[in-house]
Amino acid sequence: MLSCLSGLGLVSGALPARAEYADVILNRHAEAEGMPPVIFPHWFHRMRFRCKVCHNELGFKMRAGANEVTMADIIEGRFCGMCHNGEIAWSAENCDICHSGKAGLAPGIVGGHQTGGPGRW
Ligand code: HEC
Ligand code: HEC
Ligand code: HEC
Repeated sequence: MLSCLSGLGLVSGALPARAEYADVILNRHAEAEGMPPVIFPHWFHRMRFRCKVCHNELGFKMRAGANEVTMADIIEGRFCGMCHNGEIAWSAENCDICHSGKAGLAPGIVGGHQTGGPGRW
């Protein structure tokens, strides 16, 4: 078992080899469309950007599994594509860095809800 601290993804630069504590799995369509599930390292991003950049300006709902994201959105610069455009961060051509989950991972948070989020869901 991972301890909470070792699982937070605080080692920057290391690509996630597998889902870690508090990563979010996005898999509403990916696997059904023949791509591995997406592992989104939430803490990695939370350390670098304000919450409101994603949860307000980019329109990501603060609820795992609640967002309907397609590759067309990303390539057109929405959601992940706002940054993963080859300028702010590496571009959408790097399929495997996002689609790094093992088959069968259900959408949701690895390791349960984080503290500090809104509790009303
Ligand atoms: C920056 C991260 C990122 C990169 C890079 C990326 N994807 Fe995705 N992709 C996503 C996310 C997020 C979803 C939505 C996941 C879900 O809910 O199923 C998705 C969904 C998909 C889907 C299913 C939905 C749809 O729109 O058809 C396919 C197929 C897909 N990606 C293929 C690719 C391919 C092929 C590449 C490389 C050319 C790629 N992706 C690169 C993040 C990424
Ligand atoms: C780079 C974009 C980004 C940033 C910055 C970001 N988030 Fe998120 N957040 C997401 C995405 C993407 C999801 C997953 C949504 C999904 O599964 O559909 C998410 C999910 C969540 C969730 C639901 C999952 C959970 O862990 O309970 C909460 C709560 C949340 N974010 C809070 C925050 C807070 C608080 C901050 C700032 C400290 C923050 N986020 C910063 C993109 C971001
Ligand atoms: C607000 C800008 C922003 C958004 C939105 C964003 N990212 Fe990122 N992401 C970054 C930056 C910056 C990096 C670091 C790039 C680098 O190291 O060159 C990064 C790195 C990553 C990494 C690699 C983490 C590591 O350990 O090196 C993954 C995986 C990733 N993003 C997936 C996603 C997915 C999936 C989404 C959408 C659900 C997303 N990102 C949305 C800015 C963003």
